[in-house]
Amino acid sequence: MGLIRFMSESRSCSSGVVAFVTRAMPGCAVQPFEHLSPVVEYLFMGKARCVVCHKGSNLTDNGFHNLAVPDDHVTSDAKVMASVRFDAKRLGMEKWAELTEDPGREGVTKAPVDRGKFRTMGLRNIAQSPPYMHNGALETLEDVVAFYNKGGGDHPNKSPLMRPLGLTDGEQADLVAFLNALTGSQRAMDLK
Ligand code: HEC
Repeated sequence: MGLIRFMSESRSCSSGVVAFVTRAMPGCAVQPFEHLSPVVEYLFMGKARCVVCHKGSNLTDNGFHNLAVPDDHVTSDAKVMASVRFDAKRLGMEKWAELTEDPGREGVTKAPVDRGKFRTMGLRNIAQSPPYMHNGALETLEDVVAFYNKGGGDHPNKSPLMRPLGLTDGEQADLVAFLNALTGSQRAMDLK
């Protein structure tokens, strides 16, 4: 997907990056993000390959992938695992009682190929909603980028799209700056 397509799929001016990628669009205020352009092209869409899954106006393919996100805090907690199994039972999984991890998308489709897959999350206003991933295993955007840089975690069903990226410290910092730029000026929701 080219930058033009990326731009044309972004329709609103409210989010920082949208203003950035649509700076030529009438009605959108020009934002001082021009210096991030190489980050989008060279990193997000290039070396780091984030755009393989995070694309379109909300930066998600709406697909399901197994990234092998760490889940020790889930699997080691008997009470949490009891609720994971209860949920699997509720969803009608046959071997719900034998589960030792969150089945993810498999709970819905019952297909083993979907074990541990979760929906790609959109990235708009991402700086406002730590911790990250379905189970909150990663505390900061720095942690997220470091996780992707090492090719994700360890799981037999990990997506072949996850592989070590070889990003330098500077490139990782640039990617984090870009993710922060996806956040607009609107107020964060107070969920407390
Ligand atoms: C193979 C597909 C894939 C690729 C490649 C990918 N992501 Fe993701 N991303 C996902 C999925 C799936 C999730 C949700 C995972 C979960 O909930 O466990 C996610 C979650 C995230 C989150 C957390 C969202 C939240 O609200 O918790 C961030 C931030 C993120 N990705 C950034 C990136 C960046 C930056 C890159 C490139 C370095 C990237 N992703 C590459 C599929 C992908």
